[in-house]
Amino acid sequence: MASHQHPNLPLPDYFSKFAGIYVRQTGQSTLNILADVITEHVQTSVLPISADSVVHDTASGPGIGAVALVARLPRNQLPREMLVSDNNAMMVSAAQESLQASALPHVECRELDAQLLQSVPDNHFTHSINNFSIFTFTRPAHAVRETYRTLRPGGLAVITCWRRFAPMFIVHAAQKKIRPDLPLMPTPGPEFFEEGVLQQVVEEGGFAKDNITVVEKALLVSDGENVAGLTALMSGPMMSKAREGYTEDEEARWAESIGQSVKEEVDQFGGIRFEAYVLLATK
Ligand SMILES: C[S@@+](CC[C@H](N)C(=O)[O-])C[C@H]1O[C@@H](n2cnc3c(N)ncnc32)[C@H](O)[C@@H]1O
Repeated sequence: MASHQHPNLPLPDYFSKFAGIYVRQTGQSTLNILADVITEHVQTSVLPISADSVVHDTASGPGIGAVALVARLPRNQLPREMLVSDNNAMMVSAAQESLQASALPHVECRELDAQLLQSVPDNHFTHSINNFSIFTFTRPAHAVRETYRTLRPGGLAVITCWRRFAPMFIVHAAQKKIRPDLPLMPTPGPEFFEEGVLQQVVEEGGFAKDNITVVEKALLVSDGENVAGLTALMSGPMMSKAREGYTEDEEARWAESIGQSVKEEVDQFGGIRFEAYVLLATK
């Protein structure tokens, strides 16, 4: 399944290579934003997650939704059933491993395509999470349609995407320092950075306009370990596409150029600045 990946991802089989290092090398950005969304938006909504809930985290990576729930909810409010799914086998294994000793009463990790959840019945989940994945899908509206189909009437979907994906700005700045003549590294689904696009896709997928709310959120990553994780991601093999056409000498300057570009980002914002669109939709 993993071979049907978005053409603008930086490497073939990108998410298999990413699975084992994911949490560190995202600087926990996707986890920390989702954890805040759960506390500030889901638990204050008309349908907070409780012990009666049945939750799906679709395109979960290494189980980020489940980890966020355990981090933010008291044990007696954890959902009685949770499905964690991703179409990448390595991500599913990483999720299984990270959730082995989880406090969740019942969690199942499965390899599923978010765009075609055939084995999941209609009207099944009370909550559906799709965190920072939609822009990597080849057919995003199909995934929303599946979220809508599998959600119970009155159920709540949480769908997030980037407004400012900081590593893209930092990698581009590093590229411009070494080879400004070469093309900048592409990013999957850049249209999702634009305001209104996520909402449009979610409406296309079946949710009524009046049942959708979008909020914007920012996360400043300044903690040394998380900055180091993000720096490792941008300096290393996951971003080799940014160095296409480089000589050996130019390659050798890459890590330093990333280091300098991280420093510029931190000087400008006080940390590595991520901005997100957070969409909440009720069926
Ligand atoms: C940027 S990661 C986000 C992971 C996680 N939700 C998080 O909050 O960090 C995108 C994830 O989407 C998964 N993915 C991409 N296309 C998919 C599809 N069609 N079905 C299911 N998962 C998919 C990838 O394997 C990867 O784990």
